[in-house]
Amino acid sequence: DHILTEKDFVKQDTLKYPFEERGLQFGDGIYEVIRVYNGNYYLIDEHIDRLYRSASAVKIDVPYKKEEMYERLDELLKKNGIDGDAKVYLQITRGSAPRDHAFPDQTQANLYAYVKDLPRPYSFLRDGVSAITQEDVRWDWCYIKSLNLLPNVLAKQTAKEQGCYEAILHKNGEVTECSSSNVYFVRQGKVYTHPAKKNILHGCVRMRVEAFCESENIDFIEEAFRVEDLAYADELFLSSSTSEIMPILEVDGQTIGDGLPGDVTRKLQKCYESDAH
Ligand code: PDD
Repeated sequence: DHILTEKDFVKQDTLKYPFEERGLQFGDGIYEVIRVYNGNYYLIDEHIDRLYRSASAVKIDVPYKKEEMYERLDELLKKNGIDGDAKVYLQITRGSAPRDHAFPDQTQANLYAYVKDLPRPYSFLRDGVSAITQEDVRWDWCYIKSLNLLPNVLAKQTAKEQGCYEAILHKNGEVTECSSSNVYFVRQGKVYTHPAKKNILHGCVRMRVEAFCESENIDFIEEAFRVEDLAYADELFLSSSTSEIMPILEVDGQTIGDGLPGDVTRKLQKCYESDAH
């Protein structure tokens, strides 16, 4: 129950947020979700780099220098006695100030990071999941991991109400990513995914998927696929820090490929396994 803040560690139940807080009022902040396996961070460099990139894109000063951030995040795991599988949620907002859309003259960014146990989603990894498609109504700068997640929240809720794990988002039929993961289309042994442009989040696991494809001699093609293409997919899978590499076997009630996790997905899952453990 030790939480890291912009100043120091505090006990969870002593953490207080002012009501005029820009994260709360404007979603004026950024975040990261970092995976921990056996008490060790996975892809920590990728997450920390992205955190500073997001912060600079929205002109927020991160309260800690990079080296200090590494140390503090290690301390967070130690203080909480984490030795198993977990996730760290870290957010930084522009700070607290009387409500005004424009930035206050002087703000101290508010940071907090906490760690929570998180078992791996074994049965979904093995058996696959289903998804729905939804129009991507988000803004153009989804490469920033911003706290503004209302479109993602609504898309995920719609998926949940239909008994599905994820919502695959598309702009005019062109698939971008999912509500909280990246998505990949496999056809004739090649992996297709939306290019890492400004309109998708550049997933840390996505970076590894690209590397795994290279080491396995699988073509990794950064070319957007379309919702209509799903009818011709041999395989479909998603990736994120919490979902890892997960087969998608059904979309909008239609079976993908032969309805079983495919060879390419299985191969990439194996790569993930040895990379993360
Ligand atoms: N989500 N795309 C979106 C919109 C995401 O929110 C996420 C991560 C990803 C995958 O990124 P990564 O591989 O770095 O986890 C892609 C986190 C897990 C979340 O919001 O909980």
